[in-house]
Amino acid sequence: MKICCIGAGYVGGPTCAVMALKCPDSTVTIVDLNEARIAAWNSDELPIYEPGLYEVVEQVRGRNLFFSTNITKAITEADLIFISVNTPTKTFGVGKGRAADLKYVESAARSIGAAVKQGHKVIVEKSTVPVKAAESISKILKATSALNPSVSFQVLSNPEFLAEGTAIKDLLYPDRVLIGGEQSADGFAAIAKLSSLYESWVPGEKIITMNTWSSELSKLAANAFLAQRISSINAISAVCEETGANVEEVANAVGTDKRIGPYFLKASVGFGGSCFQKDVLNLVYLCECLNLPEVAQYWQQVVDLNEYQRKRFANRIVEALFNTVTNKKITILGFSFKKDTMDTRESSSIFIAKYLMEEGASLTIYDPKVPAKQMYSDLKHPAVCEDEEAVDRLLTISHDPYEATKNAHAIVVCTEWDEFKTYDYERIYKSMQKPAFLFDGRLLLDHSKLQRIGFQVQAVGKKLITLENGYH
Ligand code: NAD
Ligand code: UDX
Repeated sequence: MKICCIGAGYVGGPTCAVMALKCPDSTVTIVDLNEARIAAWNSDELPIYEPGLYEVVEQVRGRNLFFSTNITKAITEADLIFISVNTPTKTFGVGKGRAADLKYVESAARSIGAAVKQGHKVIVEKSTVPVKAAESISKILKATSALNPSVSFQVLSNPEFLAEGTAIKDLLYPDRVLIGGEQSADGFAAIAKLSSLYESWVPGEKIITMNTWSSELSKLAANAFLAQRISSINAISAVCEETGANVEEVANAVGTDKRIGPYFLKASVGFGGSCFQKDVLNLVYLCECLNLPEVAQYWQQVVDLNEYQRKRFANRIVEALFNTVTNKKITILGFSFKKDTMDTRESSSIFIAKYLMEEGASLTIYDPKVPAKQMYSDLKHPAVCEDEEAVDRLLTISHDPYEATKNAHAIVVCTEWDEFKTYDYERIYKSMQKPAFLFDGRLLLDHSKLQRIGFQVQAVGKKLITLENGYH
């Protein structure tokens, strides 16, 4: 099979690299408008960091996986075309701040319509989209086939469930592959074609087929349920901090019930990433459009609680530091939205950094993977900052954790990078201002050990930890 993927991002790149690995008889070409991104995919410095990705790309690139900016050629040659372009939240017009911006999906569909001159093509919507987006793609493509009868299309929905940081594992061993299509003979044939591709490495019983709308909605619902679990445990973390209950103990007790399960119950500084907030808001907007205001409000709370959690955590830092952080050196450990990725989209670290800088803190950030340029760009983004000059004045990016924490009043752990657990905290403590504070927004570190060293430790979901009150 000849496969084309439009969009060489966090989804298109890893998904198609794994597809090329597992389907050696197929040729996969990933195309993108972004020349720098394609050049990076063709180099030794891939544009995204994902454990195991380089090893997969190295095996298949130039064999049956190609990266190109020649979109028309790749579309023309392909039997199966994935659309994996971005679908960010709209920042303007109707649905601003909630609806998904489908302009990239539409432009990809129009590129397909313009390029295809003959033959039957199966178009696969892999981007996360609102329900009925496949119908819009179909309408655009039907305009092409109406003018040229030697062209025909079938549009499928095949949402992606990979999580960043574990993308390769998720793609190699998915919980399920979802394929939605038109419930007609042509639709079933297209579903069978895509299904046969996945069957090269995914057990048949894990490939679920359904109608297009169920498939589109299932993706939004899955992300909404996951985000809801995090907001649920974060809501409980606030109760824990007030009462002396320990959120890890509560999560463990709740999660051992088979009906609830142990995953996604880790209290944190709030969820980040390009998907959860966007997709929940997308669902909220859909419900509003469907005149279901109660349902919209229900899901809106998941996002509101996440914002509350971030604010609560940031406020706790300022309060603990005697209600002023002005001119105090505070070190943030971790800027990516989770460990094992360099992606910073919607990272809670951005919010915490912004808040502390607004209070005049002198901020140092250390992250094992995120480039300094990315941090400046995030913190100077107009949606985040009104005063770029203040960012230049208050922000230092460090490449060494010991240098980063020297003379700091406080350390704030925002991302759960494994290497943070391995540091010599005695050495760090000695080099800091006293009292030396440590705020663990990820429940990552050994709090009793840190306390014995002398740190004033505060952690999400735990009452103020002191040697006396026994929370260690
Ligand atoms: P991304 O921004 O990393 O990549 C999208 C790419 O598409 C960009 O490189 C962009 O230049 C390219 N593009 C946009 N319009 C184009 C066009 N008309 N022609 C050619 N290229 C075009 O986005 P992503 O994180 O890979 O997400 C893609 C989709 O997958 C989104 O809908 C997202 O919601 C969904 N998704 C993402 C994840 C994730 O973990 N990132 C997981 C599951 C689903
Ligand atoms: C998510 C979904 O998991 C994935 O299925 C979907 O395809 C894309 O969106 P991703 O955003 O890459 O994946 O990462 P995920 O592991 O879900 O984490 C999202 C955010 O929630 C991160 O900031 C993470 O740190 C946070 N999180 C996760 C918690 O705070 N607590 C948890 O228990 C789990």
